[in-house]
Amino acid sequence: MTAGFAVIPNCATVIPAGVTPFFLSRVVCTRGHAAQESAFFFSRPPLRYNLSMSTPAPERIEQFRQKLKKDWTGDETVSAWRKWHAEIASFTRGVTEALLEETELRPGLAVLDLASGVGDPALSIAPAVAPAGRVIATDLGPDMISLAAELARNQGLTNIEFQEANAESLPFPDSFFDRVTCRFGAMFFPDLQKALRECLRVLKPGSRLCFAVWGKREQPFFSSTHGVLARFVEIPKPDPDAPDVSRFAERGRLQRELETAGFQNVKEDFLIVPARWNGSLDLYFQQFSEVSVMARPLLAQLSPARRGDVRDDIIAGLQKFVQDGHLVLPLEIVLASAVRP
Ligand SMILES: C[S@@+](CC[C@H](N)C(=O)[O-])C[C@H]1O[C@@H](n2cnc3c(N)ncnc32)[C@H](O)[C@@H]1O
Repeated sequence: MTAGFAVIPNCATVIPAGVTPFFLSRVVCTRGHAAQESAFFFSRPPLRYNLSMSTPAPERIEQFRQKLKKDWTGDETVSAWRKWHAEIASFTRGVTEALLEETELRPGLAVLDLASGVGDPALSIAPAVAPAGRVIATDLGPDMISLAAELARNQGLTNIEFQEANAESLPFPDSFFDRVTCRFGAMFFPDLQKALRECLRVLKPGSRLCFAVWGKREQPFFSSTHGVLARFVEIPKPDPDAPDVSRFAERGRLQRELETAGFQNVKEDFLIVPARWNGSLDLYFQQFSEVSVMARPLLAQLSPARRGDVRDDIIAGLQKFVQDGHLVLPLEIVLASAVRP
């Protein structure tokens, strides 16, 4: 059991640890699935992202930007998301629902969604603010959001626009939006303070930002895939200053960053959200091997036989998360909201 999280298994309900009754103030882990994590992958000290919150030198930030651009806008990434977007959206639906609730949406609001990728959560926000409200979905590169635009057309959404935009320099006027949202994107912003100050600038006074980001790296979503892969290939040692999925794993980290940027009423909740995969375990592995920016090049280094071994070990490890014939992984996330003074 891990103190500080709460979850109701087999249920889309998420419970914020900070406001739970005392009997739910720790993980309720009914299936006893403490992850069997790879000694190699997790024996390193937990990644600490620049705890002093000082900003890395500009040339290093520029290197991070170049790498992120390459990773997230390259053909392989875009075509993998094109192939798997529906499955990913369904699997992570609980995170979108938690984010939407925290964002306090209502018809008529103007919403900016950052790092929208192929449209999550922007495509779900549009109906919640319709008919008078609008959403602008943005991303680093044009390809992910052009797929998001295609999905919006298919869904008949007419109050959503799509625009290429780097969160660090937003092409919008001051005090323009009622809400800024971002799901699984803020961990990657190279100059985080710059991006947060941009969010503050484009929000109207008294209006609200809401981010969902990953919690700790040592959780089944990562240990059951990347953790197993690390037994087969050497995973490069992460740069402690570089953007990383577990950047906000430390309690209070995202809250401090938001306060430093000038936000008020900052709230940070650690949640566990059950994620149900509707296909087979084999399909889950295929999706992981194509979508994961980190795993894809490492898997490509292996011979077909070794890749088969990785696949078999990952699938064997996932069996313990199967409930009623479906894979259900407890996603450990951080949900933060804040208000522009
Ligand atoms: C894990 S995906 C999340 C996409 C989507 N929000 C979701 O939850 O499915 C991360 C996204 O962040 C985008 N991204 C990374 N750095 C960014 C930046 N500085 N500005 C805008 N988008 C960025 C990437 O292009 C990518 O689409």
